[in-house]
Amino acid sequence: MNAIEIKDLRKSYPTGHIIRKRITALRGISFSVKKGETFGLLGHNGAGKTTTFKILTGLIFPGGGEVKILDKSPDDLEAKNSIGFLPENPYFYTYLTPVELLQFYGGLFNIERKKLHDRIEYLLDLLSLTKWKDTRIGKFSKGMLQRVGMAQALINDPEILILDEPMTGLDPVGRKELKNIILSLKEKGKTIIFSSHILSDVEMICDRVAILIRGRIVETGSIEELLVKRSTGYEIELTANAKEWVKNKGLEYSPSGSSIIVTLKDFGEAQKLLKEAVNEQLEILSFIPRRVMLEDLFMEEYRKYEKDIRGGS
Ligand SMILES: Nc1ncnc2c1ncn2[C@@H]1O[C@H](COP(=O)(O)OP(=O)(O)O)[C@@H](O)[C@H]1O
Ligand SMILES: [Mg+2]
Repeated sequence: MNAIEIKDLRKSYPTGHIIRKRITALRGISFSVKKGETFGLLGHNGAGKTTTFKILTGLIFPGGGEVKILDKSPDDLEAKNSIGFLPENPYFYTYLTPVELLQFYGGLFNIERKKLHDRIEYLLDLLSLTKWKDTRIGKFSKGMLQRVGMAQALINDPEILILDEPMTGLDPVGRKELKNIILSLKEKGKTIIFSSHILSDVEMICDRVAILIRGRIVETGSIEELLVKRSTGYEIELTANAKEWVKNKGLEYSPSGSSIIVTLKDFGEAQKLLKEAVNEQLEILSFIPRRVMLEDLFMEEYRKYEKDIRGGS
């Protein structure tokens, strides 16, 4: 059973007061998230990330398609109880302290008093908030607020965590802290799905990503898969004494300090050369697929999509 299963999900919003129009936010997206997986939904502003999460958390209804959380509909109570949600810009009443706020959210889940007390202590410690547990939230930095938001999302010890742009607005320290928190939750076996438009954040933590562009998923896969699929060739680095050997094979090389680099287009060719080099007992210094950066991949997909819609498809 997958933690999350989305098939052909569609959603449009009504807009305009006089002339009624609709904005299409999701144009039939499909993806699934396995239990224990960390999944990144990557997309520009307005791509449909928040809409997807609102549907998953049962806040809004889909216009079409199918959504399953642990095999249940999002409005099933069991599904709801299995989810923790950190909204995009969480707003907390500024006069509350972290303890009061967590007591309030815990109350919504009918968690028994003693258990809730222990849970709050545990979360304050996990998120390094113990020192500030009785300080009003109004005094908190964005990074601290985000940690309070994480504590709130974890209050019911959910199996699935949905985090909408958790890194946005954080400074590098806050970002690193949050990354570590997400990684530690991943180690505890939680299923985590989060959105971002910051590609490097996704690269660090995710097992798999989906690239969402204007309501369509254009790619899904592990970061490695996405990059290798688009690799523009393979580089084999050998020590400089292999120059003649390479030349004799009719191959080109570029010198690089005390080594040389042979670039091959095709994986089979690269494999063949590697084998031959091993047989020849040459020293192989490195073998690297020449990868495009995730940033380039994202822009490439975006341009392709823009061209498609301008082309009238
Ligand atoms: N409540 C709403 N009413 C009308 N349009 C909306 C509403 N929420 C989102 N949209 C539109 O739907 C599209 C997707 O928005 P959203 O899901 O918030 O994207 P993201 O979170 O990726 O930035 C955007 O074009 C946005 O303007
Ligand atoms: Mg959003």
